[in-house]
This record gives sequence, structure tokens and C-alpha cells, in this order.
Amino acid sequence: MSVAAVDVLTPTGSTVTGIRTQIDREIEALLVALPDPARLSADERRGIIARYTAVLEGNFIYWMTGAYLSVASDEARAKIIDNLREEVRDCHPGMLRRFTLAAQSAPSAEDADAVNHDLMEVRRFIGRLDAVPTVVTMAFFEGFIQRFMPYLADLAKRQGSTEMEYTDVHGICDITHTEELYGALAAELALAPARSPQELFEGVGLLRTLMQTIVGKN
Ligand SMILES: [Fe+2]
Repeated sequence: MSVAAVDVLTPTGSTVTGIRTQIDREIEALLVALPDPARLSADERRGIIARYTAVLEGNFIYWMTGAYLSVASDEARAKIIDNLREEVRDCHPGMLRRFTLAAQSAPSAEDADAVNHDLMEVRRFIGRLDAVPTVVTMAFFEGFIQRFMPYLADLAKRQGSTEMEYTDVHGICDITHTEELYGALAAELALAPARSPQELFEGVGLLRTLMQTIVGKN
């Protein structure tokens, strides 16, 4: 754990900076380790899209709802409810399903089995409804997904698809959105007792393992 993450023990402005630095580092580490799409077989590409869909389609809104139930600050609730409203109003699970079907990568029972163990670990973590570690995890997840979209789109194109609404919508770097997310984290940190870096990043570790399983790295 880095020195920057240690100062999260004090709920101040620099606390959020330390957490953010660590989250950005975790995202970068995951991205650089992605397998090169040009070296993957069609079946391997299909598997990544299928496992990603098996996880995201039915769980993203569920986890974001868990984050909503866990937080106590008005700022965090407002931020998360905006996210949930967009997910439901614009039917993001349906958008993902269209993307996946167009790439002929619908998840099979085998794909669901491949992610089941690591997915259950994240579900159990979210179910604790522990506000700060949950918001840290969702900040990591949102940041990662946005950066992962060009890679996912590349896999789909190589599978012959031209349906890119899902990756286009989720690949936009929304600076205001990110700032609001870290504003929500600051609001929750101000309410929460001091936490160790291990506690803060437990969900990030579980989600990283799950993403590694999705891309076939575990
Ligand atoms: Fe979404």
C-alpha cells in the first residue's frame, strides 16, 4: 500500500487526493495488463465480451443501489441517484445486451460459471453496506469502465460488430461527473471514522480480481 493511501486515515481534502491517486494507479495497472486483442482468437475475444456481460448486465444497477443504501450524506445520495436514474431511464442493461448480441457474444452457462466465484465475493462485499469502502469501489469501477470501453469496442469490431452505442455512451470522459463522485467521497469521509487503507481498498481488490477473470488473466 502506498504512502499516499496512508493519509486517508485523516478525513481532509488531501485524504480524497490520496485515495484518488491510488484508484488511478489501480486502474492503470489493470489496463496495461489487458491481453492484446490482435493476439486473441475469436473465441477468446467472444469470451471476454461474454464474461463482461455476465457480470455487468445484472449487477451494475444492483451494486449502485447498494452504494445508495450505504451512504449517509446528501451529496453522495444525490450523485448516486443521478447515476441510477440514467441507468434505468436509458436502459443501460438493454444497451449492453444489444452490444453483446451484435458481437455474437451472448454469455453461456459456462461464461456465468467462470465469473461466479469472484462475482459472489463482490456481492458479499457490497452487501455489507459499508459506505466509504463502497464509494471507493464504485469510483474505481466507473473510472475503469470508462477507460476499458475502447478495448471492449475493439474486441467487438474484431467480432464483426458495428453496434457501439454501449461503448460510446460509457467511454465519454465526463470531468464534472468524476469531480462529483470524489465530492461524494469527501462528504462520506467527513462522516466516517478513520479507516485503514486495507479496509478502504478491499472492494477494489475484489473487483480487480473479478475484472482479471473477465479478461482471462486469472
Ligand atoms: Fe451504464
